[in-house]
Order: sequence, then C-alpha cells, then structure tokens
Amino acid sequence: LTGAITLDPGYKNSGSCKSDITFLDGEEGILRYRGYSIEDLAEKADFLEVAYLVIFGELPTKKQLSQFETDIRKYTLVNEEMKNIIDGFPKTAHPMGVLSSLTSALTAFNPKVVNVENETEMYEAVCKTMGKFLVIATWTYRKMMGYPLNYYDNTQGYVENFMQLMFKLPTSPYSANASVVAALDKLFILHADHEQNCSTSTVRIVGSSHAGLFASISAGVSALWGPLHGGANQAVLEMLEDIQKDGGDADKYLAKAKDKDDPFRLMGFGHRVYKNFDPRAKIIKKAADEVLATLGVDDPILQIAKKLEESALVDEYFVSRKLYPNVDFYSGIIYRALGIPTDMFTVLFAIGRLPGWIAQWKEMRVNKEPIGRPRQVYTGHPLRDFVAMDKR
Ligand code: SDX
Repeated sequence: LTGAITLDPGYKNSGSCKSDITFLDGEEGILRYRGYSIEDLAEKADFLEVAYLVIFGELPTKKQLSQFETDIRKYTLVNEEMKNIIDGFPKTAHPMGVLSSLTSALTAFNPKVVNVENETEMYEAVCKTMGKFLVIATWTYRKMMGYPLNYYDNTQGYVENFMQLMFKLPTSPYSANASVVAALDKLFILHADHEQNCSTSTVRIVGSSHAGLFASISAGVSALWGPLHGGANQAVLEMLEDIQKDGGDADKYLAKAKDKDDPFRLMGFGHRVYKNFDPRAKIIKKAADEVLATLGVDDPILQIAKKLEESALVDEYFVSRKLYPNVDFYSGIIYRALGIPTDMFTVLFAIGRLPGWIAQWKEMRVNKEPIGRPRQVYTGHPLRDFVAMDKR
C-alpha cells in the first residue's frame, strides 16, 4: 500500500492500530472506504449505502440495503423519558454538549450489553445506534429553537428524515427539497470515516475498556466538538462572517494567520495528515457552487472563501507548510445555504461520522484489541527526598 505506515512491535499499546476500513494517503490526497474511492462513492452511492459499506465491509445488494433501512426504522422511537433530560438543558446550551449527554443517556434506556461475537446482536446495535442518534441529534436543534420535538417518519428515507426531524413544524406540512437531500447525502458520505482522527481514536480507546457503544460514541462527540477538529466547520463560518463584517479584507486575515504573535489560525486550512489537497474539500467546493446555484442563493461568504483560498494557495507561508483547505472549509457554506444554524454544523459532522465511529468500535472489539494504553516519555524530576512542611 503506498503511504501505508509501518507499525512498530509495540503498536498494541501506542494508540495506533491496524484497520481494514479506511485508506488515506496524505501526500497523494487519496481517501478510500473499504477500497472504494471517495470520489466514486460521493457521486454514485447514497449515505445509508456507504454507512453499510463502512460498517459491514461490502457494498449492500438492493435487498440488503432495503432490509438495513427497514431494520433501522425499528429503533427510531426514542424513549419519551429522554425528553426529561433534554428539558433540563437551557436553550443556550451548545447542541454538541446536549448531543454528547443524550447519547450517553441512551445507555440508561438500552442497558443490554452487546455481545459483539453475536452477529445478530451486533447488527441490532448498529441499527439502533443509526436510528436513535439521528433523532436525538435533531432534537438538539429543536431544543435550541424552542420547537416541539419531532418523531422519525418510517415512510421517508434516512436523509429525508433528517430534514423533517429538523424543520417540520406542527403548523404546516413539510417535504424536503430533493436537491437539498442529495447535497446532504453527499456531505454525510464525505464525513463517514477518516481512519484514526481525534474523535474516532477517542471512540476506539473508550471502547477498548469494553465501555458500551453509546458511551464510546458520546466520548467521540465531545472530541469532535473541539474547534481544531469537527468544530472547525462552525469556526470557518464565524471567521468568514468576521471577514465580511470587516469589509471583506481576506488578505488582512491571511496576515493575522501568519503572525506568530497572533493565536488566530485560518480555520478550515491545514490537516494532521493531508499535506496535499483534502480530496473531500474539492468535492464539497464543487457541491457548494451547485447547491447555491440550485437554491438561487448568492452568498457573498462563498466569494470571500474562494478569495481566501486563492490567496493562501499562492502564499509562501501556507505553501511551505503544505496548508490546504480541509473538509471543513466549504461544508459550512452549504449548511448555511440549507438554513442550518452555525451551532448545528458540527452536529451534522457527527451524523456523517457516525458510521465510521460504529465501524471502528466494532472492528476494535471483534478483533479483541487490548485496552488502549498509550505510553509516555517521562520528563519530570528524578527521585528526590521528601521535604518536611517547616522546611518548604
Ligand atoms: C478535521 O484528523 C482528521 O482526519 C480530522 C478530520 C476528520 O475527517 O476527522 O479531517 C477533520 O479535524 C479537519 C481539521 C479541521 N481543523 C481546522 O481547520 C483548524 C485549523 N487547522 C489547524 O489548527 C491545523 O492545521 C490542524 C489542527 C488541523 C493540524 O495541525 P498540525 O498538523 O498539528 O499542524 P501544526 O499545528 O503542527 O502546524 C504546523 C505549522 C505551524 O507553524 P510553524 O510552527 O511551523 O511556524 O503550520 C501552522 C502552524 O502554526 N498552521 C497554521 C494552520 N494550521 C497549521 N497556520 C495558520 N492557519 C492554520 N490553519
């Protein structure tokens, strides 16, 4: 495999792992789920199809996909008592904090420990997680807006349900715009997995203690929240809005990002692994143009983003450090065009990343990986004698 890293013998305790799920080559800008290119999947598949591939390892047949969707629908009813938990949050709570709490709370209402060796039990846990997580993720928006909570509609598709769960009001009928659903399908596919990123490593290491799937995913949601990780899609929009308020002077913000004494970073740029274009960013940038044109949205923010990208890609500071737009740089522009508030952007990242978290947790448990226990290089004091209080 080009670009594959070699694992040292001690890898079992280092936090690194072997995985069959996602191949990523940061130098070449290659991303594949179970051997299929992200370009092909984004163009030719839908989100549930890709979720099935990422979790079970093969593209589903028509029958398998239909059964998967039917089986997810069995678990989309969330225990009504969960509403008492969401009622306990202030409207101002960030949706990611509410989502992490609700995800952990799912354990209380689904206490059965999954026997990962039992394929039926594992399959049910997958369907239950896919079903319930989508519902509670949208509840965080409804809570923020002060709207009544919606229920999954078993007559509609998974991504169509995301839209109705989010936006359907009791006062009028609702049907999701087909091009919006298509755009979200693509965006969720592009977020489905990304090998051992911060939040996925969190899910694996929490799950390696044999903590349950909901508890492990709840930890992953918290890790994703950070502005250096999934929270970047919200931070990008806030940065672009600041630039817009500041007269649209992109170069001024480029200079800030380069200033060593200024903590400001160009959000949506750079990556731990990609030292070339993030292949997802290319697809999302094209989708942003398409979605805004289809919806007839002329968003000056998109022009500012393009100007920022053009300037950064020829700027020695960014070129020398191999800083390119990442998955978060353009995704928020599409979410905004779809009427999704910035506080919800990272929740959408979590909905897309859920199949990857499930797949990686399942792989780690089925492979009987040992408990995660990274080691350290000790840089503290050598042995020293105790000092009595009156001598300190
Ligand atoms: C995601 O890991 C994954 O796969 C994550 C993800 C996924 O799908 O799960 O791809 C999703 O998290 C994408 C990344 C989203 N985050 C951002 O867009 C936040 C802005 N980006 C940076 O904070 C940063 O680029 C990171 C955190 C993404 C990566 O950090 P690195 O690789 O640790 O880079 P670094 O901190 O070592 O920086 C190297 C140099 C430094 O300058 P020098 O000390 O060499 O002078 O590059 C500079 C940094 O100051 N730098 C930036 C920068 N990113 C790095 N300077 C300005 N703006 C930036 N965005």
